[in-house]
Amino acid sequence: MKKIIFFFLVFSQLGFAQFTDINIVKEIHTKNKGLVVSAHPLASEAGAKILKLGGNAYDAVIATQYALAVVYPQAGNIGGGGFLVGVKNNGEKFTIDFRETAPEKSSRDMYLDKKGNANTDLSQNGRLAVGIPGSVAGFYATLKHAKLPMEKLIQPAIDLAEQGFAITQKEASLLNNQMEFFNQHNKNKTVFQKSTPWKQGDLLIQKKLGETLKLIQKNGAKGFYEGKTAQLIIDEMKRGNGIITLNDLKNYKVVERKPISFDYKGTEIVSMPLPSSGGILLAQMLKMSNFEKLEKYQQNSTPAVQIMVEAERRAFADRAEYMGDPGFIKDKTEMLISEEYLKNRWKSFTMNRATPSSEVGKIIPQPKESTETTHISIIDKDGNAVAVTTTLNGLYGSKVVVSGAGFFLNNEMDDFSVKPGVPNMFGAVGGEANAIQPGKRMLSSMTPTIVMKNSKPYIIVGTPGGTTIPTSVYQSIVNIVDFKLSPNMAVNSPKFHQQWLPESVLVEKNFPESTIADLQKNNYKIERTSQIGRTELIIIDENGNAIAVADGRGDDSVAVE
Ligand code: DON
Repeated sequence: MKKIIFFFLVFSQLGFAQFTDINIVKEIHTKNKGLVVSAHPLASEAGAKILKLGGNAYDAVIATQYALAVVYPQAGNIGGGGFLVGVKNNGEKFTIDFRETAPEKSSRDMYLDKKGNANTDLSQNGRLAVGIPGSVAGFYATLKHAKLPMEKLIQPAIDLAEQGFAITQKEASLLNNQMEFFNQHNKNKTVFQKSTPWKQGDLLIQKKLGETLKLIQKNGAKGFYEGKTAQLIIDEMKRGNGIITLNDLKNYKVVERKPISFDYKGTEIVSMPLPSSGGILLAQMLKMSNFEKLEKYQQNSTPAVQIMVEAERRAFADRAEYMGDPGFIKDKTEMLISEEYLKNRWKSFTMNRATPSSEVGKIIPQPKESTETTHISIIDKDGNAVAVTTTLNGLYGSKVVVSGAGFFLNNEMDDFSVKPGVPNMFGAVGGEANAIQPGKRMLSSMTPTIVMKNSKPYIIVGTPGGTTIPTSVYQSIVNIVDFKLSPNMAVNSPKFHQQWLPESVLVEKNFPESTIADLQKNNYKIERTSQIGRTELIIIDENGNAIAVADGRGDDSVAVE
């Protein structure tokens, strides 16, 4: 097994501003020091800086998220939403649901044309795709677990917005690829649009975003949900077909929920309940594959993959049928994760062939995946842990920047089932449980997770990837608990994914060809993809030795206190 302890990539040494040096750190081993892993080195450093100033994990996660909203505009956000799972060193476990909600003027069939066909362009792009953002309210709800004042936590992001930072190669090419969509969906010019292509090392300065962050710094959550920023959002809605109102913004509320938690082989898994399907899917998949004693097999061997794929297929069929916002539907979580129900669900499993998806649920297909959304894992020196996954949904969300306020708005409305059976941008289908209703939260796959051992945080993990999120978190956990891989291999070895519909199994490049050939013999249809997810993982042993790994698939980076 390849063992990589530390590796550092120095991207740019231009030295003309504070934020032009970008050091990507992929792995850190430490003891009794806080660790932050996120999608961008400057955001991880912002979190680590707050830890050094005496903040705890919850202070650091607020600072990291604000910083991501500046340095990682494709997914880091104040115009989107997410989910946070926390475990404190006093044993308290909590979650914060800051998922977007459907506007008061939304309705079940708002994306259907006169003939009743779904227009997914409208649910995915432009102003009508936007749900009421939850992030800023989420940061304020996190504050009660933190130690420092919000003014301090937001300051690193303000500095990054005002002084600018050098963009990486990956960011430059993403911005260039998206230019035509920015041009199409913005009436006023944004800082992300440029007549010549972006290149690595270019300075991205975001003065308007800096002003918005200062308003939040001065006025609290009202600096976003009321007053000037709220009015700028409404003005932006009016430049097209947006329906969000001042009332929608003023009435946005986070929900603090009891985490979903269950035993897995001597560990306790703590994850996100509905309206994210993540925790339920994770419980279902782990429990079903445990019927076959997964630990007997090797990672990515044919039997292991087959067992896991079939667990994934059955869990995702249940997602489509039963899951949605528990404020609007009957919550079936208890039944769905019970041993009795899952044993019954597993009866149709056989090692000899792929189970046709039509045998585990009622049908309708189509694929898709992307790498937006973003995850942060943090542990502080006192043993407080936090996992948060946050998103604009697609790459740069709706592609609409609020003019005068400088931030992207989400396209989260597409996570509703816009029409029963019509796949969303991740190929997920749903039905009535996830139909659009004003005030409702759209079903998510985000799976911020903390695994406990001996009542202490053991693994802190999460990833972006749409519907591939729960299956990637599932694999990261079994890679450690069942297959005994190093944290680095748990994150960076090739992953796979099945989501009931489409029928095929998605495999990442470098996936073992012999396993692919065996699966094909058993009637599995294989599709290849360049990458699945960007997992950020921290593991802490019983002696307090911690290892943080940032996914090698992107610019993801670890910072230490
Ligand atoms: O909440 C969800 O499940 C999606 N909006 C997440 C989107 C995502 O992960 C995009 N990145 N690949």
